[in-house]
Amino acid sequence: MQNSIERVLITEEQIRNRIQELGQQLTADYEGKNPIFVGVLKGVVVFFSDMIRAVPIPSQIDFMAVSSYSGVSSTGVIKMKQDLTADITGRHVVILEDILDSGLTLKHTVEYLKTKNPASVKICTFLDKPEGRKADIEADYVGFTVPNLFVVGYGLDYNEKFRNLPYVGILKPEVYSK
Ligand code: IMP
Ligand code: MG
Repeated sequence: MQNSIERVLITEEQIRNRIQELGQQLTADYEGKNPIFVGVLKGVVVFFSDMIRAVPIPSQIDFMAVSSYSGVSSTGVIKMKQDLTADITGRHVVILEDILDSGLTLKHTVEYLKTKNPASVKICTFLDKPEGRKADIEADYVGFTVPNLFVVGYGLDYNEKFRNLPYVGILKPEVYSK
């Protein structure tokens, strides 16, 4: 698996340090608000588990599955595959995402969550790829800004593979042609 990687873009240590910084920001912003962290499955699971442990205040977690992706390019077609289980009415919601690319998935997700009358909805994304943006949406908290390249690892997949790499990397070109 490691020999499919052309180069490492973000190391484990950089990720660890950045999570601590983001955790401190969220802790300061959400102290006393009992936020609910909503993870957008599946890519977020690694970031999600590290992130919630970096915010040592009372909180709740929930998940949604929404998808707009097949292979390496966004289809713009969005499907809700799994809904929330919690009632978010009047709650402070923090959506956690693996990567904000076109923004089509998140735009739809935020609009959907707002129909449930939460007190607030903010977005915390592990990666931001601003050059890919098609929808008018920005994150409130960003781990790292990345160039317009397809990346894998730390939860992000290429056709369901490479999610368990502990760092973020770029695949060798030959991997795509297999
Ligand atoms: P968006 O709707 O284009 O912002 O798509 C967001 C989703 O596409 C993310 O949650 C990822 O699952 C997937 N995605 C976008 N860019 C990449 C990438 O570089 N590597 C892996 N998955 C990606
Ligand atoms: Mg994905």
